[in-house]
Amino acid sequence: MLLEIPAVLRPEQLREVRDLLARGRFIDGRLSAGKAARRVKHNEELGPEDRLIQPLNRIVMGSLVQHPVYQSAVLPLKVASPFYARYAPGMTYGDHVDDPVMGPPQGRYRSDVSTTVFLSEPDEYDGGELVVRTPFGDQRVKLPAGHAVVYPSSSLHHVAEVSRGERLVAVTWAQSMVRDPARRELLYELNQARESLLKHRPEEPETKRVDVAYVNLVRMWAET
Ligand code: NI
Repeated sequence: MLLEIPAVLRPEQLREVRDLLARGRFIDGRLSAGKAARRVKHNEELGPEDRLIQPLNRIVMGSLVQHPVYQSAVLPLKVASPFYARYAPGMTYGDHVDDPVMGPPQGRYRSDVSTTVFLSEPDEYDGGELVVRTPFGDQRVKLPAGHAVVYPSSSLHHVAEVSRGERLVAVTWAQSMVRDPARRELLYELNQARESLLKHRPEEPETKRVDVAYVNLVRMWAET
C-alpha cells in the first residue's frame, strides 16, 4: 500500500526543521548504503553523529509516529531513527530495494514499511520524484513540504534525478506488528470503517461488532 500522510509537520515545525537543516553538514550518502545500493545512491546525508539529528528527530519523529494515519497504516513496533537527505542538481538514487534488516547489532529491526517525509516544497526543485514500482505501474510521488508517504520496503523504488533546486527529505523505516502487507492493508481499511462508525453511530450494535472484529484481528496477527 502506497499511502499519503498529510500534514505530518505543522508550518512552524517545518520552519524549525528547515532552519536546522540549513546549518547541517551533509556528507556523501554512499557511506550509509548497503553494498548493492551504493552503486546507485548519489545524494548527501547528515552524518550519523551530527548534533542536529537529535533536535530534528524530536520534531520529525515525534510528529510522524503520533500521526493517526501513520499509526493505523503502519502499526509500528519499532521505528528507526531517520536519515536526513539532500539532493542537489544531478543527484539521484537509482532503482533499489531497501535493506531487509537494519539497525545496530543490539537493536536490529526488520524493515516492513518505508517512509519519506518531504521537507522541500514541490516548486523548490525540478525532478526528484520518489518513483515506486507497483503492480499497477510506476507511482510518482512529490508531496508538499511536511507531508509524508509510506510504501512497502519490499518494493523496488528510486528517486528521479533532481535537475534544479534542492530536495530535502527525511527517510525512515519501521518494523510493523503485522508483517504481511496484505493484512496491514486490510486492517487499515477496516479501521477506516470502524473509526467512522465510532464517530457517527457509536451506539449501534454493528459498530461494536466491527470494533470487536478489528481489535481481535489485530490481536490475532500482531507480533510483538
Ligand atoms: Ni530506498
